[in-house]
Amino acid sequence: MLSSQPARADQPIVIKFSHVVAPDTPKGKGADRFRELAEKYTDGAVKVEVYPNSQLYKDKEELEALQLGAVQMLAPSLAKFGPLGVREFEVFDLPFIFPDKAALRKVTDGPIGKELLAKLEPKGIVGLAYWDNGFKVMSANRPLKTPDDFLGLKMRIQSSKVLEAEMKALGAVPQVMAFSEVYQALQTGVVDGTENPPSNMYTQKMHEVQKHATVSNHGYLGYAVIANKAFWEGLKPEIREGLEKAMAEATEYANSIAQQENDDSLAAMKAAGKTTFHEFTPKEKEAWIKALLPVHEEMASRIGADLIARTQKETGLVP
Ligand code: LMR
Repeated sequence: MLSSQPARADQPIVIKFSHVVAPDTPKGKGADRFRELAEKYTDGAVKVEVYPNSQLYKDKEELEALQLGAVQMLAPSLAKFGPLGVREFEVFDLPFIFPDKAALRKVTDGPIGKELLAKLEPKGIVGLAYWDNGFKVMSANRPLKTPDDFLGLKMRIQSSKVLEAEMKALGAVPQVMAFSEVYQALQTGVVDGTENPPSNMYTQKMHEVQKHATVSNHGYLGYAVIANKAFWEGLKPEIREGLEKAMAEATEYANSIAQQENDDSLAAMKAAGKTTFHEFTPKEKEAWIKALLPVHEEMASRIGADLIARTQKETGLVP
């Protein structure tokens, strides 16, 4: 049978890297940079095919495809590992847990970051890196200044129980939905609103179908870059080393551009004038924090009280 023949020595190893966002985003650009560097550092022995915009798979399917080996690499958001049975990643979704990127970086670059990636191994997945996107804004067709404004709104979320608890704490009705379906769901009123970093909101044109947004920075969205473990470990050491070098540089690049990409997207949406962006007053921010902090305790039994406490300590949230 043709498919069982060994690959000829001069045939490149193909890595399919599937993702759900636009090419013109921190993740899209990181994936493209990895493609270039991987080909360079393996002298063309590896060819990376990047499939953006859910072209190949939507959120849930892409993780199944990775485990089956239909694709070799992904970079799902940290909010999407719960259905795989690795709930601990949802610690990244806790509202107001990261005061800034420096605090976040302490967690991803420190022991907690490493421990979490290691939890993927029994699932047949190798965790390679953390890539940034940014802090989220909340959007809908009505102003969202105080928690009361969320009452009864249907809000699209990623598949994270922490995000579900977050929306419920605000009095909203959370609805899990694949990223590729969000624009249409907002346009047709299947959901009323959602939360996103500005880069995702802008590149999916969600600002065209959302009249109001609050720059709440209430939560973080970032990625774990992952590979099929059997594939990764089956590579010749010199090839794997080339790919690791490419990943280290692509990671540095992706994380260096993420903030600017989000700043630019927010500015572009403001200039487009379709969405009115609201900045918190200190009093409003206080009310959001009061409504959302109980989610940390509520989620302790799911994520692990110890992991939450260690993360809070690392980020300076508690002394
Ligand atoms: C979302 O589903 O909102 C995000 O995870 C999409 C992404 O990959 O940034």
